[in-house]
Amino acid sequence: MKTLVLGCKGQVGSEVMAPLACFGEVVGADLADVDVGDLDALRAFVRRVAPDLVVNAAAYNEVDRAEQDEQGALRVNAHAVALLGEEMKRARGALLHYSTDFVFDGTTGRPYREDDAPNPLGKYGESKLAGERALAELDAPAIVLRTAWVWSLRRKSFVSAMLKLAREREVLKVVDDQVGCPTSARDLAEITALIAYGARADVHRAFSDARGVYHAAGAGACSRFELARAAIELDPAKHEHKVRSIEPVPTSAYPLPARRPASAPLDCGKLGARFGLALPDWRDSLARAFTV
Ligand SMILES: NC(=O)c1ccc[n+]([C@@H]2O[C@H](COP(=O)([O-])OP(=O)(O)OC[C@H]3O[C@@H](n4cnc5c(N)ncnc54)[C@H](OP(=O)(O)O)[C@@H]3O)[C@@H](O)[C@H]2O)c1
Repeated sequence: MKTLVLGCKGQVGSEVMAPLACFGEVVGADLADVDVGDLDALRAFVRRVAPDLVVNAAAYNEVDRAEQDEQGALRVNAHAVALLGEEMKRARGALLHYSTDFVFDGTTGRPYREDDAPNPLGKYGESKLAGERALAELDAPAIVLRTAWVWSLRRKSFVSAMLKLAREREVLKVVDDQVGCPTSARDLAEITALIAYGARADVHRAFSDARGVYHAAGAGACSRFELARAAIELDPAKHEHKVRSIEPVPTSAYPLPARRPASAPLDCGKLGARFGLALPDWRDSLARAFTV
């Protein structure tokens, strides 16, 4: 099986290359190889590589910038995704794509299921939802993993940012009224590879049969404040920290252009029921990341 990983230098893309290479050929591409927002270039690139499976980890992830750049976000998060769905349908291949908890408004007061009504609060969430809908309308052989709060110690993420700030500041103020499911980029990459591995005999058919949206996030939920505190406490290089106090603050303390869902934990039961897979508890993943 030949897999093309788009966004191969990002948090998830960089982690997915190694497990995929255990059972097939893997071609990685990032912005320098092809701008997925350039649809003609993307089409030509995909046809040249001719993969059986595309793992699309490329995304326009700048939630606040998207408020001023709706078209830019739509090009990458929706139009490129539609093109990938179309191409893989035409070539009888398959697509694994990622979406976000930001498609929800965070007001239900319980973990979201795949069939809960989306209601994005900002342009980033709208663009990701448009990508999901395009794949559904095309009836593409596509599995969409909706994830949340993706972190990695090796790339820019909320967790790595907090660890950096802990080395620079004595007091950290972190919002405690946004709740979500922290997801290790490595765990999500491994789940991705396990789904691809299970489908390898006939990836087009397997993805066509299983097509749709699946929630795939770390088990458990917490606030940004709890996540920051756990990361700082677990960091084995604490002697480098300057931080003396971590203080909870409301979201209103940090006014940002885009609204975020207040509480959008994801119920990942469908992923377990269909594939027998579940991501570990977020705290266990965080602890493990510091030991390997
Ligand atoms: N990060 C989160 O908290 C989060 C939460 C929910 C869902 N997700 C979804 O999970 C998936 C993976 O996210 P991630 O955190 O791994 O993202 P990431 O670390 O930002 O990686 C995305 C990669 O795509 C590249 N890229 C951006 N625009 C591109 C373009 N026009 N053409 C080609 N490549 C481009 C980026 O390059 P540059 O770095 O050079 O821009 C980067 O290497 C995405 O679909 C994202 O929407 C992420």
